[in-house]
Order: sequence, then structure tokens, then C-alpha cells
Amino acid sequence: MPMSQLPATDALFSDQWLTLREPADHRARDAQLTHAVDQWLTRRAAAHPPREARSLETPRSVIDLGCGSGSNLRYLAPRLQGAQSWRLIDHDSGLLAQARLRCESLSSADGQPIHLETDQLSLTAAWEHGLEGADLVTASALFDLLTAADIEALADACQRSGCAVLFALSIDGLIRFHDAGGSALYGDDDRFMLAALQAHQHRDKGGGPAVGSEAPRRLRESFHRRGYLIREAAAPWRLGPESLPLAEALMAGWRKALHEQLPQQRDRVDQWHARRLDDLQRERATLTVGHRDLLATPTGGTPSGARA
Ligand SMILES: C[S@@+](CC[C@H](N)C(=O)[O-])C[C@H]1O[C@@H](n2cnc3c(N)ncnc32)[C@H](O)[C@@H]1O
Repeated sequence: MPMSQLPATDALFSDQWLTLREPADHRARDAQLTHAVDQWLTRRAAAHPPREARSLETPRSVIDLGCGSGSNLRYLAPRLQGAQSWRLIDHDSGLLAQARLRCESLSSADGQPIHLETDQLSLTAAWEHGLEGADLVTASALFDLLTAADIEALADACQRSGCAVLFALSIDGLIRFHDAGGSALYGDDDRFMLAALQAHQHRDKGGGPAVGSEAPRRLRESFHRRGYLIREAAAPWRLGPESLPLAEALMAGWRKALHEQLPQQRDRVDQWHARRLDDLQRERATLTVGHRDLLATPTGGTPSGARA
């Protein structure tokens, strides 16, 4: 139950779940990496002035992979300067329709309208022939479901396009309950259940074993090997009483995954689940779920690439 941590049929996600997690996602993201990508895009725009003298500026071209209902765009577009043209890619037409509806009136940090197009496409098709011309390829909460080969193919496509990448909110495997004093609650059952959850995240989703919580390391190594400059930051969810509906939904998803992973131990799973849920509901515990954000920029002097 990786990638967004709640099950649907593996790669299908409900708008309800994506909407529930959006405030925690936006709070968790690293502001410095967002600022750094904004600066990189501004330098790149300055290095590639518009061809037509009358245009003020060539829009920054951004591709959002696995965009869902548009959470990444809603976070990023108002924090980036300048005209922006976004291409939202997902295989789920219902989520793409939601994204269009909810993002059409967004503006950039300096008040310019956002140009938006949606593209119902598989991720594989997107990186096989869809990333040319992008200044930035971005994604959020996407990578744990992919295989190691997917990540290599994505990195190849990004390198060919010469774009920067900003990949937010990849799970890193850290899950901890803490008591009111901040001490970790990490007994034998927690250790056992969390190891089983990790194993579940690596299950084959159709194209080979998924990278699960190894996604941050795989992304870092793939882009580093291709000469990219890497910056990373922790972006954990910290779920207290104000985030109880999200924590409850997450725990329900974990219980389902644990039933799949440990079919002989349903009672033990249910007891652990009930105890930790009760701790959260009675405000005896909070829940931390680790993620990492990654910014990778091509090296080699002034930003350059497809638009040169
Ligand atoms: C966890 S959701 C994240 C959505 C969004 N980025 C966010 O942060 O809310 C993952 C998204 O990837 C899409 N997705 C998963 N596998 C895909 C594939 N093979 N091709 C295209 N889209 C895919 C799903 O439809 C879903 O919208």
C-alpha cells in the first residue's frame, strides 16, 4: 500500500483520499527546495529569452507526472515566478477532470495566469516520448509504486530533455508513533507490523518488484549517475489530533495491507491496529510518516536544454 499509502486497485486512487492528504502534504513539503527550483527556472528563462520581440517572457514549461487531482500544481504554481505552462499527466480521466476544474483559476507568484493542459497517458508512454521541451518535470507522492527500471527510464528521459526535476513526498520507510512526551512507541508488535508493511510496499504491481521506500535512494542515485546536482530534504507528515481523519484513513489502509501480507496473523494485526488507533483517538500518541523531497538540476553552467 505504497505510493500514497492507501489502497485502491494499486495504481487507482480516489479523489477523496488525495483531497484528505493534501493539507498534510503541503505542510510537509520543503520550502527551500521550492525556492531553489524557482531560482533555477528564473535563471533558465533569462538564458532563453523569447524568440518574438513582442512577448515578454517564454512560459516555464512544467510536466506533472501522476498528477491525480492536481495537488502538486496547487502547491507549486503559486510559489513559482513567471508565466507557466503546465501539462498534467495521469492515466485516470476522472482525476484529470478534477484537476482541471480545481486548478483553472490559479496564478503564479507574480500574478500571471497558469496555462493548463491535461493528458490521459501512462507514465511509461510519458517518458518514452513525452518529456521533450520541459523545463521542469515534477511529481508528488508517486515513486514507491514504480520499479527500479521505471526510475532508470525516467532519468534517461529527463536527461535527454535537459530539464530539472522536483520530486516531492516519496515515502522513506519511517513510521513512528510517539507518546505525549515525544518518546517513540516502538515495541515488538510495532517493529513486526512496520517490517511487514515495508515488505508489502515492495510487492510486484505488474511490472516487477516496486521500489517502495527505497524510492528516494533510487532517485538520488539515478540522477546523480547522470551528472545531476542533487538536493534533498526530509518532508515528514506529523499527524496529531488535527489530522485524525487522515491518520484513521491511513491506518485503515495499513490494516488491509497487513491482512494481505500476514494472512495467518489477522488477530495480531487487528489487535495492534486497534491499540494504536485508540492511542491516536485518545490523543495519547501522534504519528510520523517519513517522506523525502528531491531536487535535481542538470550541471554544466547556465541552465540550458531543450529550448536552446
Ligand atoms: C498517490 S497518487 C498522487 C497524486 C498527486 N501527485 C498528489 O500528490 O496528490 C498517484 C497518481 O499516479 C497515477 N498513476 C499511477 N500509476 C500510473 C501509471 N502507470 N500511469 C499514469 N498515471 C499513474 C494515479 O492515477 C494517481 O493519480
